[in-house]
Amino acid sequence: MSATAESSAKARESSAMRPAPAPGPRCIVITGASSGLGAGLARSYAQPGRVLALIGRNTERLTAVGEACRHAGATVHLATLDVADAVAVVAWLRAFDAAEPVDLLIANAGLSSGTGPDRQPEGMATALAVVRTNLLGVMHTVEPLLPAMLTRGHGHIAVVASVAAYRGLPDSPAYCASKAGVLAYGESLRAALEPRGISVSVIVPGFFTSPMSQRFVGNKLFLTTNENAVERVRRGLQRRARRIVFPRRLAWLLRAADLLPAWLGDRIMRAASFHIVPANGCATRP
Ligand SMILES: NC(=O)c1ccc[n+]([C@@H]2O[C@H](COP(=O)([O-])OP(=O)(O)OC[C@H]3O[C@@H](n4cnc5c(N)ncnc54)[C@H](OP(=O)(O)O)[C@@H]3O)[C@@H](O)[C@H]2O)c1
Repeated sequence: MSATAESSAKARESSAMRPAPAPGPRCIVITGASSGLGAGLARSYAQPGRVLALIGRNTERLTAVGEACRHAGATVHLATLDVADAVAVVAWLRAFDAAEPVDLLIANAGLSSGTGPDRQPEGMATALAVVRTNLLGVMHTVEPLLPAMLTRGHGHIAVVASVAAYRGLPDSPAYCASKAGVLAYGESLRAALEPRGISVSVIVPGFFTSPMSQRFVGNKLFLTTNENAVERVRRGLQRRARRIVFPRRLAWLLRAADLLPAWLGDRIMRAASFHIVPANGCATRP
């Protein structure tokens, strides 16, 4: 066999051994992939031919999710990163995207916090930690990928807000502020980027079961399962929905509360009181 025929036979053989590309996005980055919604999405996207970059802070939990995804046939890259650390996150994402062009980013990492007993203020350290993670963390992950996606002329960005973005809740001011910021940021990006080939999905969930919602003590109106949340998000992302809002009833209730005169809305919100159990005595998890 000639050298050319031999090398093309080898190329055919190696492409036959390579997994067929997975339908949908080939390369997906998920932040907050070590738990709850992020972990569920990572597992549900895991299949041969797909590359997953999973980001979280807790190495043990992240590794367990990564192992499950590898077992399902995906190529997995793990990054133990704090999304609040702009320098580290930007450097890692730029290097990763240069090697594996990102098709879909799901900026999901988040933490919750609430006021103390008798609605004592959350305190500066807690409020800043929540905004740094939930809002700045989203910007730290989205912004470094945009120039390359714009050059390629395609890509999909999904940001996870919350129905708490629709109406400030007296028991968790910093969380509501951070999620209102994520909602506004995602809506703004979408309007700007869609004509340039980049889809943006703004995900607005209500309560679903996860370690975060377990720490919420109060009426979890219309609570759904993590599996259902994963399914809703997957379906929405598949059709590149501009907004993925569930359950709609809770979203409408909070949006309606925002349309009421402020004194009346405040009175209703005060009555629907709840508290957040701090994780290990502080707002952030180890
Ligand atoms: N659960 C609900 O009812 C609900 C409702 C509305 C919106 N949401 C939103 O949905 C998203 C997922 O929530 P979840 O319920 O799945 O929460 P979860 O189970 O507590 O998971 C949160 C994830 O975010 C990661 N994370 C937190 N801070 C981080 C940081 N500084 N850097 C990197 N990763 C960080 C955590 O990773 P490590 O622990 O490894 O750091 C974990 O993987 C959040 O944005 C949340 O606000 C949740």
